[in-house]
Amino acid sequence: MSSLAAQMLDILGYDPDDGVPQLAELDARALAVGTLVAARDGAVNVAVARLASGKLVVVDDVCPHDGGRISDGFVDGERLVCARHGWELAPCGRRCERVRGAGVPLG
Ligand code: FES
Repeated sequence: MSSLAAQMLDILGYDPDDGVPQLAELDARALAVGTLVAARDGAVNVAVARLASGKLVVVDDVCPHDGGRISDGFVDGERLVCARHGWELAPCGRRCERVRGAGVPLG
């Protein structure tokens, strides 16, 4: 890594050349139902998903279970499924809440 790249990393808090688009660069209309992608909102990693209903959601890209990247998972209907341990997550504002995990439904 060049010293300029290292300085950018220090200033921004992320590598601007890592291929993750900023939210403003995404064409949300082009995201098909069932699509889940990683993006960035400034320095914050986010997951952008088009749910089965067509609703577009943007959530912090951190699973509430153990910090997995939600954008590595997939869309299942109106839920997001974390790839690390399979928790099913409901987008709730900018965060996700556990709906079901490890095959055990919540009461
Ligand atoms: S980190 Fe997401 S289910 Fe465990």
